[in-house]
Amino acid sequence: MRKHIVAGNWKMNMTFSEADDLLNDLMEKLEKEELPRDVQVIVCPPFPYLEMASDYANDSYFAVGAQNVSDQEKGAYTGEVSAAMLESCELDYCIVGHSERRGYYHETNALVAAKVDRLLMHNIRPIVCVGEVLAERESGQQLDVVRKQVEEGLFHLTAEQMKNIIIAYEPVWAIGTGKTATTEQAQEMHAHIRSLLTAKYGKELADEISILYGGSCKPTNAKELFACPDVDGGLIGGASLKADDFMGIIKAFI
Ligand code: 13P
Repeated sequence: MRKHIVAGNWKMNMTFSEADDLLNDLMEKLEKEELPRDVQVIVCPPFPYLEMASDYANDSYFAVGAQNVSDQEKGAYTGEVSAAMLESCELDYCIVGHSERRGYYHETNALVAAKVDRLLMHNIRPIVCVGEVLAERESGQQLDVVRKQVEEGLFHLTAEQMKNIIIAYEPVWAIGTGKTATTEQAQEMHAHIRSLLTAKYGKELADEISILYGGSCKPTNAKELFACPDVDGGLIGGASLKADDFMGIIKAFI
């Protein structure tokens, strides 16, 4: 059966010492809990703190991911970080196609697809974000928008490659706004994504893919969101910056 996953996306937050405190706090809290074997916690700090996070992760129960990667293999791309570098730092995961990157840095589905390829080439599991903006939902286009993101970002993959993908549905209007999708809205979209996967790759594979929800997920709403049959966990922004809140969300699975 597919994994339950709670991933923290710190975005561009935390100084070095704040990051150290948060990781330490989280590690201590995780040590006190019996996490079920099918639950994976992932922490995605900014690049400068990945090594520190990996050191903590070695002694604890979470894995570490990056928030972005270059689509290029290596060379004269000032400021970029390659999948080969992430692999050499022994990272397991990387977020791709977050709506902030699609919106502020003009990342297209084609670029997302290229980044996914680069990560898979280097044995790093992509956490691929999809989701509609408010105007698209208000005009009833959300299912089509997400279908296009999934098809153009992922459907060039073989079934063997697809097994390594984690999908995160993040309705853009719910990110950082305090406005969470209802359980009906989340379940409808997650079931839609799984039906697309089923049509392309078959039910057995589609049932193995974890589909996470992201957007104002908190300790108070995580349990009901994660209880939806096709919601397999969360990609958490703001609430991943406080160990108590992040732990409160992880506890939805304990
Ligand atoms: P918030 O949890 O702050 O709404 O952010 C969600 C998100 O964008 C995670 O990637």
